Amino acid sequence: MSGTLINANVVDALALPRVVWLRPNLVGLSFPLMKLLPARYIVRKALEDGSLQPGGLIAETTSGTFGLALAMVARLQGHPLFLVSDPAIDAPLKRRLEDLGATVHIVEKTGASGGYQGARLEVLERVLADNPGSFCPRQYTNPHNPGSYAPVAELLAHATGGVDCLIGSVGSGGSVCGTSSYLRLLFDELRVIGVDTHRSVIFGQSDAGSGRLLRGLGNSLMPRNVDHTAFDLVHWVGAAQAFLATRELHRNHALFVGPTSGAAYLVADWWARQNPDQLGAVILPDEGYRYQDTVYDDAWLKANGARLDVLPHGPVEWDQPHDGDDPWAFYRWGRRAYGEVMGAYEAHAELVGA
Ligand SMILES: Cc1ncc(COP(=O)(O)O)c(C=O)c1O
Repeated sequence: MSGTLINANVVDALALPRVVWLRPNLVGLSFPLMKLLPARYIVRKALEDGSLQPGGLIAETTSGTFGLALAMVARLQGHPLFLVSDPAIDAPLKRRLEDLGATVHIVEKTGASGGYQGARLEVLERVLADNPGSFCPRQYTNPHNPGSYAPVAELLAHATGGVDCLIGSVGSGGSVCGTSSYLRLLFDELRVIGVDTHRSVIFGQSDAGSGRLLRGLGNSLMPRNVDHTAFDLVHWVGAAQAFLATRELHRNHALFVGPTSGAAYLVADWWARQNPDQLGAVILPDEGYRYQDTVYDDAWLKANGARLDVLPHGPVEWDQPHDGDDPWAFYRWGRRAYGEVMGAYEAHAELVGA
């Protein structure tokens, strides 16, 4: 056995996904906690280039899983950690972060622009300014976020011999854009499908109206790490549809995962049925434990108007991204830059970190 395996800490041991066959032509990449990959890589690179000193403060804005991953990495490497989040963070996760030694600051109000994300960024910038020498991983803009996904492409290539399509949810853009950029070095015909949700600005909707119930994917600000030219197709999936698909993954495959996995699976399963002669891979970013009192609780689903009995058969095709509320829609993005599809950025599509 190799020394690396013997010496693997929990972050190294949990960073890579399990490969699970969901159909003869669809493979799931099931991560315990996908964000361990970028958290580990970003911190390693920052220590290498000197932007983080051993023992230095790390500060970041996060709605959950990136924070948890950072807390694990920071704890193991002896860095204090300051996290800014919003009320969507659940109490057990907050307690877990604090148990790992992180300071967790919750903003109570949305910012002047960009919803909660805008408010979180305002607090973060203040903490960084007040603490000279502190380091912010900036998962939305740091190229080491997408850069961290080479091992996933390698694992998938080894497990399958080649894939035709990668399907995954888009939040910072790191996982889908990173994994697909490495996969395309091996399989240049690879198609990429991004999964977003309504009232997320990433692929041209506005974030006007009530907030998003489906969290983890989508964004109120445009992350620089989204390379729009990576995407052949974009799907917008509603919360209720994503939640039921999450439950179907559990009922049909005993896979206990979070709702962004459900959203991606809904699209991937549809794609696999449409393309029986091709092989797809779908990214399943986290486990279901955080969502036991929400997505896995029928009473919560009902109380939030998000309980469905049957999944839609397939998506509606849109001829242009817009704010329509079809529960499940798709658009042929065609590997174009945002501006080519939508024109210049609107005020609401302000860049994170711009
Ligand atoms: C649970 C979950 N799923 C999916 C995503 C989207 O992944 P990415 O940020 O790599 O686009 C995130 C991002 O934070 C997440 O927390």
